[in-house]
Amino acid sequence: MEDQFQRQIEYLRISVTDRCNLRCQYCMPAAGVEWIPHEQILSFEEIHRLIRISTQIGFKRFRLTGGEPLVRKGIIDFISRVSQIPGVEDLMLTTNGMFLPEMAYALKAAGLNRVNISLDTFNPERFRELTRGGDVNKVFQGIFRSLEAGLKPVKINVVVVRDFNLHELPKFLELAQDHPLHVRFIELMPIGISSDRRGEFVPIDEMKEILGLQGLELERGQIGSGPAEYVTPAGYNGSIGFISALSRHFCNTCNRIRLTADGKLRPCLHSPKEFDLREALRNGSSDEELRKLLMQAVWNKPVEHHMNEEAWQGSRVMSQIGG
Ligand code: GTP
Ligand code: 5AD
Ligand code: SF4
Repeated sequence: MEDQFQRQIEYLRISVTDRCNLRCQYCMPAAGVEWIPHEQILSFEEIHRLIRISTQIGFKRFRLTGGEPLVRKGIIDFISRVSQIPGVEDLMLTTNGMFLPEMAYALKAAGLNRVNISLDTFNPERFRELTRGGDVNKVFQGIFRSLEAGLKPVKINVVVVRDFNLHELPKFLELAQDHPLHVRFIELMPIGISSDRRGEFVPIDEMKEILGLQGLELERGQIGSGPAEYVTPAGYNGSIGFISALSRHFCNTCNRIRLTADGKLRPCLHSPKEFDLREALRNGSSDEELRKLLMQAVWNKPVEHHMNEEAWQGSRVMSQIGG
């Protein structure tokens, strides 16, 4: 359906859990976050119902996120049930990749179309440090297993943090050159991280300069329907994308809303306003009432985000909103 600013909203990002097997430095504080109690998390039945209702008002694309969506028990069965809902045209998942070596084929068989995988460094020790315990070799295995299984196109998410991985950017180009992978460089967003880190933000223009890509024309929507702008240099098997939430925000072409793991609809990643679907689901609301709430959230989608000083101190962290 259309929002009040004539944007077609057809993409629902669903956080199926706030839990994660990792604790990336730009996503969670060192001490971790307190997990939302199980009974406050939407059940798979509840999410399934919301997806079914959302297809009636034109939602077609669904991305499962977390935390880490693959840590939730029963996720494969859930995916096979969701992939059978009429109107679900694209079913996708964003993951840290650690479970993909074992799960990629089962996910494909369940009806998942594609995956986006986080990878911020090639260096095993630095990966472990950034993620507070992750194994980068597992992620690489997961990336190639996903390609083999046909979870395509496979996109790689690189959050660029000045003192951490800026010097590695050229190496990521090689990944897209040698393999059919779509590598996207992401500007660090001020969500759930302390304002001391704002010096680590790198604008897209600076990244492009480092990569020697400054003159190239970027195209939005070339691969998938997200906020990334892409370029495919000659001779590449994959492509290079940029997600610039801050330096050149993409709110005017935004096509999505979000559902948090505890059942709140967020019209925008950055909006403090949330619509309580869990309450509605659990107080016996009819499909019609739920449909109305969804439509209200879409209609109230803000014209653009206001990522400002306050955002650095935001009350929710990325793993709770779903990225
Ligand atoms: P596709 O392009 O459909 O594959 O997905 P995507 O790039 O939207 O999804 P993904 O989960 O891989 O997210 C990549 C990055 O884009 C993450 O850092 C997200 O937080 C960010 N992102 C996704 N949607 C939005 C949005 O609506 N607003 C902003 N500011 N950032 C977003
Ligand atoms: N800024 C930008 N991207 C982030 N992600 C997590 N935290 C941040 C942040 N502060 C990314 C992850 C993952 C996606 C869901 O969101 O790298 O790829
Ligand atoms: Fe987990 Fe993803 Fe957050 Fe890292 S960025 S802690 S993998 S949810």
